Amino acid sequence: MNKLVKRLGLTEQRILFEQVNAAVDQAERIAILGASGQGKSTLLRILALLDVPDEGDLMWKGISYRDSDPRIWRMRMTYVAQQAVMLSGSVEDNLKMVHLLHRQPYDQDLAQRLLAGMGLENLDIQKRASDLSGGEKQRIALIRSMMLRPEVLLLDEVTASLDRTNARLVEEQLTRWSQQEGTSLVWVTHDQEQAQSFSTTTWFMGNQTLLERQPTAHFFDNPATDLARQFIMHPAPAAE
Ligand SMILES: Nc1ncnc2c1ncn2[C@@H]1O[C@H](COP(=O)(O)OP(=O)(O)OP(=O)(O)O)[C@@H](O)[C@H]1O
Ligand SMILES: [Mg+2]
Repeated sequence: MNKLVKRLGLTEQRILFEQVNAAVDQAERIAILGASGQGKSTLLRILALLDVPDEGDLMWKGISYRDSDPRIWRMRMTYVAQQAVMLSGSVEDNLKMVHLLHRQPYDQDLAQRLLAGMGLENLDIQKRASDLSGGEKQRIALIRSMMLRPEVLLLDEVTASLDRTNARLVEEQLTRWSQQEGTSLVWVTHDQEQAQSFSTTTWFMGNQTLLERQPTAHFFDNPATDLARQFIMHPAPAAE
């Protein structure tokens, strides 16, 4: 992405962020950190073309988003929202539906493996999806997206409704997936321990821009800015 700018408001005057420049490498695991309201979710949504930048460009392998089919773009870069949206029908219908929509074969073994890997081995997949708990819905939405094998997974606080044990399972599963499939992860989290355990790179949003972009260990040991140092010492409570 190149010099991205997002403004807010009817008059489009207030700048949410500007001069956001970054690239995502294959199989890179990126944690996006920053205080509430910095535009982390907005940035992910822009990357998935679910929102538009006011200036700047987004490129996929050298081709601008302006010259790309948004549907194909979203199959490569898939956004997984914090509030999971279930389609009607059973859990299994939910897992299969997207394959029907995308005309891709449904891999039942893979679905079972991912369910088990995320602590859902005992979930009755004939159950109505709308009856699932928030944390179950989050994991089903995540599995649904993973099974389409996008090249980049854009993850918006996807473990926010999970207890620590299940959150760890999801982290491990996603890390393995990224290593095996070459999938890049761009993961917004308020959990610094989580960021340190899964990510190779940290993006820190502050001062209305992407203030730091560092190898994760380096970011936590020796952040370049005072703002990041304060953030690491006193992370604001999550705003969910
Ligand atoms: N469509 C919109 N129209 C107007 N304002 C918006 C819109 N979307 C987001 N905002 C505003 O943009 C700012 C950034 O929102 P965003 O959800 O991207 O923040 P965030 O960094 O993800 O915060 P959090 O950590 O709380 O999830 C907020 O002030 C929000 O109210
Ligand atoms: Mg957010």
